[in-house]
Amino acid sequence: MSRLQIHQLTKRYGTVTALNGISLSISNGMFGLLGPNGAGKSTLMRTIATLQPPDAGQILFDGTNILRQPAFLRSRLGYLPQDFGVYPRTSALSLLHHLAVLKGITHAGERSEQVDALLQQTHLYHVRKQSVSTFSGGMRQRFGIAQALLGNPQLVIADEPTAGLDPLERNRFHDLLCEVGENIVVILSTHIVEDVHDLCPDMAILSGGSIILRGKPAELTDSLRGRLWRKTVENNAVAAHQQAWNVISVRLSAGRKQVFVLSDTEPGQGFEPIAPGLEMVYFAALDGAMRPEKEAVVC
Ligand SMILES: Nc1ncnc2c1ncn2[C@@H]1O[C@H](COP(=O)(O)OP(=O)(O)OP(=O)(O)O)[C@@H](O)[C@H]1O
Ligand SMILES: [Mg+2]
Repeated sequence: MSRLQIHQLTKRYGTVTALNGISLSISNGMFGLLGPNGAGKSTLMRTIATLQPPDAGQILFDGTNILRQPAFLRSRLGYLPQDFGVYPRTSALSLLHHLAVLKGITHAGERSEQVDALLQQTHLYHVRKQSVSTFSGGMRQRFGIAQALLGNPQLVIADEPTAGLDPLERNRFHDLLCEVGENIVVILSTHIVEDVHDLCPDMAILSGGSIILRGKPAELTDSLRGRLWRKTVENNAVAAHQQAWNVISVRLSAGRKQVFVLSDTEPGQGFEPIAPGLEMVYFAALDGAMRPEKEAVVC
């Protein structure tokens, strides 16, 4: 059983505080890190991957201080960055071999075995001789996970891996992550609520550089049961509803505005009760309506 412990992590870029004293403890399995654009997800992922130092705080992996001993983490890490940048005109096969050497898999037989197995697992074996630069978005993401899994990592970090994938590719990618996520620590950073709902038994919401909610998706969703109300309103009535009620989300449905309200008592006035989903947990948390000290164990 592996364990990643983050303690009071702070990272600033000039005057921007991207991470503001974050503490988290994560064990084996898929962990979802959900947050809006600019929340600090990639900063946290890069800092855990030891690609950039924090300004303050500690990170331990299996008890070892990885900021002092980055090699301990790097030899156990698989990292799928949000953006690879330029894709080389090298075949998937030779690029994986090259990356495997960089990861220290120097024995040719062992390397071939692992590279071939990963190409099979990511359904890329039939296109292994094609240049990665010709791959579609979904194929690139699957290639990304293949390279992240080289060397049997104990910790896999995937930063927004499903952004831009069609539903079929997303499902394929989910299946892949799910397979690897059973025995190691996998951190999935995303702004897509369904990714976390579908995959992660444990999660946190990051916003403005702070963890605003932490817990199990099912329990967090349960905590909204009986407290969520919906009403379809005219466009010009939205503002009045926002003034009168604790509106956590306004959405369009078939071209009409729906307001979602969090209230412990029945609002009446045409509101109907609805069953909460994880998306509403996300909106409620971002709205400040769910207090972490009440719902979550922040370690
Ligand atoms: N290299 C950098 N230099 C200066 N500011 C940065 C840098 N990287 C990130 N930031 C800022 O830090 C904050 C957090 O950015 P970060 O990329 O970590 O967020 P994110 O949650 O990954 O967002 P996204 O969902 O858009 O990928 C933002 O305000 C961003 O503008
Ligand atoms: Mg990011």
